[in-house]
Amino acid sequence: MEQKRLIFLMLLTCLIASSCGRELQGKHNDKLAVYNRTVATILVEYASAVYASDLTELFTWTCERCDGLTKGFEVVELVVDVQNCLQGFVGVAKDINAIVIAFRGTQDNSIQNWVKDLFWKQLDLNYPGMPNAMVHHGFYTAYHNTTIRSGILYAVKKAKEFYGDLDIMITGHSMGGAMASFCALDLTVNHEAKNVQVITFGQPRIGNAVFASYYSKLVPTAIRVTNEHDIVPHLPPYYSYFPQKTYHHFPTEVWLYNLGLGSVVYQFEKVCDGSGEDPHCSRSVSGSSITDHLNYYGVDLTFIQWRSCTIVMDPRVAEYVKMDHKGNMVLSRDPATLVPNQSNEKEVTYSA
Ligand SMILES: *[C@@H]1O[C@H](CO)[C@@H](O)[C@H](O)[C@H]1NC(C)=O
Ligand SMILES: *[C@@H]1O[C@H](CO)[C@@H](O)[C@H](O)[C@H]1NC(C)=O
Ligand SMILES: *[C@@H]1O[C@H](CO)[C@@H](O)[C@H](O)[C@H]1NC(C)=O
Repeated sequence: MEQKRLIFLMLLTCLIASSCGRELQGKHNDKLAVYNRTVATILVEYASAVYASDLTELFTWTCERCDGLTKGFEVVELVVDVQNCLQGFVGVAKDINAIVIAFRGTQDNSIQNWVKDLFWKQLDLNYPGMPNAMVHHGFYTAYHNTTIRSGILYAVKKAKEFYGDLDIMITGHSMGGAMASFCALDLTVNHEAKNVQVITFGQPRIGNAVFASYYSKLVPTAIRVTNEHDIVPHLPPYYSYFPQKTYHHFPTEVWLYNLGLGSVVYQFEKVCDGSGEDPHCSRSVSGSSITDHLNYYGVDLTFIQWRSCTIVMDPRVAEYVKMDHKGNMVLSRDPATLVPNQSNEKEVTYSA
């Protein structure tokens, strides 16, 4: 009798600790990343602001979402790849003593269509220098093979020269999270950055198990925040009976979820295991929601669709713009100069 009770207790403990009977997976990283909620709630606001399409407001940090916990941020560079409809910025957050890099998610006309496409993404590119590590070509090239990478790297160098060796915090939502992940790896591997922290929100899977394993060793502090039933972290699909061959998330996931007790809903956060595919986190529920994709920690991450790939800018910031012959832009300022202020002059609209 006593023994039965003991077994029952052990089983219960197992269920709660979610550490028993885990499926076979790649090498586990024993050292879990430290999840700092304060930092996550600050970075999600940067991931939200980077969706702004008014470049003047973004560059001068006066956009509607450029407020709250990010007040006083100084943008050093804003990179806009007009051809591929991508956007990112680099700046300095003096309150947290960090260089912040943020990437915008897709500006696809229809998030539903974009999500549908995610089902079919192939593992079709060998990650350079990592034997057997496969990633999705489209996610990889969005960061590596557009004007985004060179713009970001140049700005990081410039900010470091001026401010010294600050921490580098990289963030992005959705597709922007995939780009943030590649950027963190790039800075770590190719630019010997040692103090890189990446926190992404609702990002899709970007590579296979071998890639995830490399990733967890090279960027062990990475945090992937997932929310409730958000569909995007479930894609492209992971097949638990074939874990080495399919897409595989890197660790460490932090899952935000709600539990209702009667009429009261409690919000919980779970720091998941070191596998990247903890079956007791977002994988324990169906990825059935787009709504859950568009709001993290109460912060609006809605794509600004009605101005899809349109750029708005006023002449005051025009002097900071460098444009290539394809119309891709970099707005850049010397960190030693003041942030330009807003003018009331008439706005100029560019369309891709
Ligand atoms: C979390 O980050 C904030 C801001 O950088 C810092 O002040 C705080 O001490 C950190 N908390 C923990 C538990 O490390
Ligand atoms: C990057 O772009 C160049 C030129 O457009 C192309 O030749 C090359 O194959 C691309 N690389 C990848 C990995 O897509
Ligand atoms: C911008 O700054 C200049 C010089 O500091 C000032 O003269 C001008 O009034 C400011 N414009 C606005 C809209 O605040």
